[in-house]
Amino acid sequence: MKTVLVIGGAGYIGSVVTELLLDQGHQVRVLDRLFFGRDLLAPLAKREGLTIIRDDTRYTGAAAFEGVDVVMDLAGISNDPASDLAPRITEEINLTGALHIARLARSAGVTRYLYSSSCSIYGHNNGNGERLTESSPKVPVSLYARTKIGAEDALAKLNDDNFTVVFLRNATVYGLSYRMRFDLVINLMTLYAYKHRRLYVMGGGQQWRPLIHVRDVARAFLLMMDAPKEKVAGQAFNVGSTDQNYQIYRIAQMVRDVVPHTDLEIVPDDPDKRSYNVSFDKIERELGFRVEKTPYEGIVEVKQALEQGRVEETIRTKTVHYYRYLLDAEKLLQEVSYNGKVF
Ligand SMILES: NC(=O)c1ccc[n+]([C@@H]2O[C@H](COP(=O)([O-])OP(=O)(O)OC[C@H]3O[C@@H](n4cnc5c(N)ncnc54)[C@H](O)[C@@H]3O)[C@@H](O)[C@H]2O)c1
Repeated sequence: MKTVLVIGGAGYIGSVVTELLLDQGHQVRVLDRLFFGRDLLAPLAKREGLTIIRDDTRYTGAAAFEGVDVVMDLAGISNDPASDLAPRITEEINLTGALHIARLARSAGVTRYLYSSSCSIYGHNNGNGERLTESSPKVPVSLYARTKIGAEDALAKLNDDNFTVVFLRNATVYGLSYRMRFDLVINLMTLYAYKHRRLYVMGGGQQWRPLIHVRDVARAFLLMMDAPKEKVAGQAFNVGSTDQNYQIYRIAQMVRDVVPHTDLEIVPDDPDKRSYNVSFDKIERELGFRVEKTPYEGIVEVKQALEQGRVEETIRTKTVHYYRYLLDAEKLLQEVSYNGKVF
């Protein structure tokens, strides 16, 4: 049994990681700014072994790190459009905040630090026809990806004999979570097909995207927590499955198979310029990691949850819309406040 501090443990991936850790009997501390609300974690809050700390990665102190064996950092502004809303804040959170957390962890004697990075760092990269490996060039096409690269570079310098730093470069995630995200390609397409029986396939649909189910990502974090130090220290691992690289139009076809009578409309343009076809051989070869879920199963899972009313689209499920709403609300409150109060 370990004591694990999950930074961003109330988020889409973090909440599922938290659940799996509790299932395995670990003591879990979630440190999260709770941007998406505390209520999302209510089903887990009753579980024995869970402590929830509302705090911000940029300003938090050492207390939460006392007696912790492993820190998993899954906090941050988590996609391209949300990162562009307020670039300075994105850099503060994704770079300064991440580094602050890792330094606190190292000073507190934490021995393992897992950082949630992204295959987005490969950006627009066709790899000259070869699948991209951990040593392929990074071609970031967004501020988000640049902050992920910056964080990896800075955190790598903290890796030493007593502090094992590992980077998990996740594929694009799909499936159900306590903090549902309908801005990830499979979840979004399934929602649109279900609601509108129409899908817009942006950018011609030829772009490649590797995919992974949220529970499989969470399993990878648990695996890295216990993996032999000599196999993982200071290293990056692409987290996904080589046979789960898809072109966007193929994902749309799969969604149409599950949600019949859905029209596909090809739209030539897409502000999102990412395209990457990734090799996940290293994590399988070195650590025996294999995914358990397929995108098809993920589409079925999300569709069934929509049908049964177990999940719904709200502003909180679209990361960029929600953060924009919070920024606008903050501005409005400042404008109308008098003596620090609205009324
Ligand atoms: N979801 C994906 O497809 C995917 C793929 C690759 C990498 N990632 C990375 O994995 C991590 C988790 O992604 P996610 O999908 O769970 O995102 P998410 O937006 O659902 O979760 C992020 C969590 O971080 C918290 N947070 C944000 N800023 C904070 C701060 N300053 N202090 C404390 N908490 C803060 C939020 O409240 C939220 O609970 C992110 O770093 C993301 O970049 C995600």
